[in-house]
Amino acid sequence: MKLADSSAPSLVDRFGRQVSYLRISVTDRCDFRCIYCMAEDMQFLPRAQILTLEEIETVASAFVALGVDKIRITGGEPLVRKGVLDLLRKLGRLEGLRELVLTTNGSHLAEMAAELREAGVKRVNISLDTLDPDRFRQMTRFGSLERVLGGIEAARQAGFDRVKLNSVILRNRNHQDVRPLVAFALSQGLDISFIEEMPLGVVDGHDRAEEYYSSDEIRHDLEREYTLLPTTEGTGGPSRYLRVAGTQTRIGFISPHSHNFCGSCNRVRLTAEGRLLLCLGNEHSVDLKRVLRSHPGDAERLQRAIVASLAIKPERHYFELREQPVIFRHMNMTGG
Ligand code: GTP
Ligand code: 5AD
Ligand code: SF4
Repeated sequence: MKLADSSAPSLVDRFGRQVSYLRISVTDRCDFRCIYCMAEDMQFLPRAQILTLEEIETVASAFVALGVDKIRITGGEPLVRKGVLDLLRKLGRLEGLRELVLTTNGSHLAEMAAELREAGVKRVNISLDTLDPDRFRQMTRFGSLERVLGGIEAARQAGFDRVKLNSVILRNRNHQDVRPLVAFALSQGLDISFIEEMPLGVVDGHDRAEEYYSSDEIRHDLEREYTLLPTTEGTGGPSRYLRVAGTQTRIGFISPHSHNFCGSCNRVRLTAEGRLLLCLGNEHSVDLKRVLRSHPGDAERLQRAIVASLAIKPERHYFELREQPVIFRHMNMTGG
């Protein structure tokens, strides 16, 4: 399986953006039902419809052969997929892959963090929207704050290069948690990113427009207590970072509404059912499962399909909070 010499086509789209980051959703299932991500009553994909771990490995290898050097494993909740550690061990050995990273809700980290590190995972991002147990239960519907805090502690002990918290902030739900979350990140030596909610899929129980809380408001809240210094550091994701003066902690802002970051987009996504999504906020996709299953073992054909897919990568997303979502896919299909 090689096309990966200097003659290999590189993954550049119509707008000159180089794709170097692949996000892989290994399952649409999750043990939480976060209110911004899912409806309470969700139908998950039948198992035959999702990619096998071998198929995921094949797609990942093809991307690395084409120059992708960062892979993030997501879900749903990636750690509920059986065999995910074996997959990570295999991906961790891919030559040319600079960073293997993971986004998780933290509910299984207490028992898995050390093995994840051994498998070659460099960094983990853990969702945490509040430190109040009741609000945590309201935001996640099913989650236990205590378990997640245990998972964060295990991740700290496991020796990852960095551990980052992800907090989706909603007005009158958890906006009062912004400062306690930063105080927690500082006390634990973690980074934290604040995320504006995106209108993906129909969710019940809250009005996305009314509960929109912008990154600028969050920054303003924080500047009442902390000195935030500009930094040019990045992680290759959409966060814009500031550093808390006198600490190692970086505060990131992911602002799909207020500060569009599509101009520097470097990523594509593989859904659990094997669709290659060219943009989180658009439906443009290519069915790689069909390519894999109709031509098993044909690595060149797979690579050609991937290269060709870049022709339909959209320029940017357009999110409109006041209308019904135009993207019917929920976030758990792509893991963000
Ligand atoms: P780092 O590698 O640490 O920078 O992580 P990351 O921010 O790339 O990944 P993570 O899984 O932590 O995602 C954080 C948030 O960023 C999620 O809410 C994602 O949906 C959002 N996000 C990541 N990439 C994109 C993108 O291309 N478009 C949009 N709209 N949101 C994105
Ligand atoms: N808008 C913004 N972020 C979301 N996430 C899940 N659903 C949404 C949404 N609708 C976040 C999770 C997780 C990351 C992968 O995506 O909190 O941290
Ligand atoms: Fe699960 Fe993550 Fe969605 Fe919450 S945001 S329901 S933890 S996939």
